[in-house]
Amino acid sequence: MKVFATKVIPDIAKTLLSANNIQVDEWEKEVPISKEELIQTLTNGHYAGLFVVGVKIDAEIIRAIQNNIKVISLLSVGFDNIDLQAATKAGIPVSNTPDVLNNATAETAFLLMQNVARKAFYNYKRILEGKWSNESFTTNLGIDLQGKTIGIFGLGKIGFVMAELCKAAFNMEVIYHNRSRNEKADKTLHAQFVSFNELLDRSDVLSLHCALTPQTTRIFNAAAFKKMKKSAILINTARGKVIDEPALINALQEKEIWGAGLDVTDPEPMQPANPLLQMPNVAVLPHIGSATVGTRNKMGQLAAENMLLGLTDQRLKTIINKELYSGK
Ligand code: DGY
Repeated sequence: MKVFATKVIPDIAKTLLSANNIQVDEWEKEVPISKEELIQTLTNGHYAGLFVVGVKIDAEIIRAIQNNIKVISLLSVGFDNIDLQAATKAGIPVSNTPDVLNNATAETAFLLMQNVARKAFYNYKRILEGKWSNESFTTNLGIDLQGKTIGIFGLGKIGFVMAELCKAAFNMEVIYHNRSRNEKADKTLHAQFVSFNELLDRSDVLSLHCALTPQTTRIFNAAAFKKMKKSAILINTARGKVIDEPALINALQEKEIWGAGLDVTDPEPMQPANPLLQMPNVAVLPHIGSATVGTRNKMGQLAAENMLLGLTDQRLKTIINKELYSGK
């Protein structure tokens, strides 16, 4: 049996599959596989399973592959890149890789927060330009984080770790806005559930950890930025489309907020000419939230386990379209 991966996946996943006599073919080129190439590969290649990383799987792809592919295993926690309704309609189980990347992603948010607060990327760029010294004692300064308020938008498992890190490192007060209250955060972090407007109004650092849904798409827009503190830092390790990026550029240029740290952008990749890359109070990373050896291995392991289960008609460990199994 053979499966296809839209990118090179961790060896640990391939080892597990080959021990079960399953061959993994991978898209090894740096440029992402196109929709046409993917459909052609999957319909001609006798593949029974698909590992998805970094590509969009729309209804047209699902329709084209539904007679061949028994299971789709995503190597991500987010699943906004797949038309889940189409997969369910086609009877294809889809899984993701939750939990195993909570720490790595929260650590990336924390890294960006500190980076922006002290303009680290900007100062590094200045060193490369031969400008080591601060010209003045009173310019090019950062922001203290000790005792400030961290606002979490979407306090799930990743948001919880970010809040925990901020509390432990800087004794920050935790406020959050969520679909529902997070009792663990309320109890252990003395977190306070607030309205969206209060979150905007009170956060010194506002870190986004929500899923991308129609409700969260571009929820951080011009109106939201106007409600934030002028000294606020916005951090996004969730999805680029949660932020209206032109509005963010404008808010930073107009000094409506102080800075931003982005691991995800809209679009990805960010174009090198994007004005955000020139701003002293902005730090951008190329979507590396889960990119540590340990975390990627755990994601690979879980994705491979899901693949094996799907190929043998068993319930996937971390199934997303659970309705496929209802009544079974
Ligand atoms: C995730 O797991 O969703 C990461 O953001 C990678 O896409």
